[in-house]
Amino acid sequence: MKKENYFITTPIYYSNDKPHIGSAYTTIAADILARWQRAKGRRVYFQTGVDEHGAKMAKAAEIAGIKNVKEFTNKRVKFFTESWNNLDITYDHFIRTTDEKHEKYVQNYLAKIWKKGEIYKGVYKGLYCLGCEEFKDRKELVDGKCPLHNSKPQSIEETNYFFKLSNYQQKLIDIIKSDDLRIEPQQRKNEVLSFLKNEKLADISISREKVEWGIKVPWDKTQTVYCWVDALLNYLSAGEKYWPADLHLIGKDIIKFHCIIWPALLLANGYQPPKRVFAHGFFTLEGKKISKTMGNIIYIEDLLKTYPSDAIRYLIFKEIYFGQDGDFSLDSIKQRYNADLANNLGNLVQRVSNMLVKYFDGQVDQVESSARELKQFEIVEIWEKLDQSLNQIKFHEALKVIWQLIDKANRYIEEKKPWSSDVSSQKLILGNLIEIIREIAEMILPFMPNISTNIQNQFKGPRIKAGSALFPRKE
Ligand code: MSP
Repeated sequence: MKKENYFITTPIYYSNDKPHIGSAYTTIAADILARWQRAKGRRVYFQTGVDEHGAKMAKAAEIAGIKNVKEFTNKRVKFFTESWNNLDITYDHFIRTTDEKHEKYVQNYLAKIWKKGEIYKGVYKGLYCLGCEEFKDRKELVDGKCPLHNSKPQSIEETNYFFKLSNYQQKLIDIIKSDDLRIEPQQRKNEVLSFLKNEKLADISISREKVEWGIKVPWDKTQTVYCWVDALLNYLSAGEKYWPADLHLIGKDIIKFHCIIWPALLLANGYQPPKRVFAHGFFTLEGKKISKTMGNIIYIEDLLKTYPSDAIRYLIFKEIYFGQDGDFSLDSIKQRYNADLANNLGNLVQRVSNMLVKYFDGQVDQVESSARELKQFEIVEIWEKLDQSLNQIKFHEALKVIWQLIDKANRYIEEKKPWSSDVSSQKLILGNLIEIIREIAEMILPFMPNISTNIQNQFKGPRIKAGSALFPRKE
């Protein structure tokens, strides 16, 4: 039977910065879901990458003293590929918007819409925030500043090409209402719908006159394609074979681009919208907004010096409810690391393997499980809940049910006290625990792939070796 495809994406990240917990958040989330779908037998196509064009990138190159922006982006990209490798991200394709194939694709795509009469020339007069790479409405500013970047936007007047976004207002309402384009969480869907119902959509500028670094507009080489249009098209330029995407994972800051501009650009050329867009919340660090200017960014390369990849992948998702905003603190993740990983999971695995070695020389065939006694652990139900939670992208819920099982297994040891039982009871208790640990190892696979594989190998048999601590305690 042919495998069903599953096309999942992350936003492509501005490579002038290095991967930090914000960018890792979406990327790890996508990886967990990709691994989960693979385990379910889907043929997964997981795409991520970097966004390399635009005025912001050119400015960053200039600040770095590198004249050739492409050279600058070539240097930057490795921060992403390295961090993602270190975090065990199993992407299938890594796109760079400077890839020649992508550049050509963007030009052809826009040329088609231009021919259809959906693009026209006009003059743009307005305010532009370089941090957002976006024209801002005065209403969006706070004290004349962009609230996201705390900086005054530039005043710009230039000739641009405009896309007739205003033609798509009703169509967008229809596809979102009918869930042809499913926006989640529900609160985000409501916000997008209420915006579409209450505000008249204005046409958007899709090119820049005074920005050199970018893809040239094919019918007018004096203009450069607006970097957001260029960036959004990454999903199609490298993923057309799998289109429509099953899931775009994004942060709530870029909903308008993904739920309004992007589907309209697709409809303009006769493509289906993505099936589903899930927007996660933002997190703060110890109550403060994470930003370069605040100097409180946690870079992945630094976090990896303290925690192994598996721990990071677990901790971020246990700490924060994915759809909502949340706070992150180095202190609370340390506590959680010690409690959930070093104690609950680590101890369970270590105690059981040590007892097996002590009482049965590690021989798996010396012990036996009892299906009747295992019933109380509700393994089948937990798998069902796990599937449900991950389909709904509720990572914390999935982790909660796995950890309830771990707690139950630890309590089972305490209650049964194998160290003071007779040999036939010991056989049964340890036999059951081996079964449970094997299930747990499989359940944690999408979250903690290395630990999962280690436990699976350790508990495969025929002879289980005593294990060292999976997660050494942090003081
Ligand atoms: N290049 C655009 C995306 C183009 S997609 C066609 C962009 N890049 S970005 O590097 O600025 O950020 C991308 C994503 O990083 C955000 O949508 C968000 O998912 C994530 N985050 C950045 N900071 C974050 C937090 N503090 N918290 C959670 N996620 C954060 O926008």
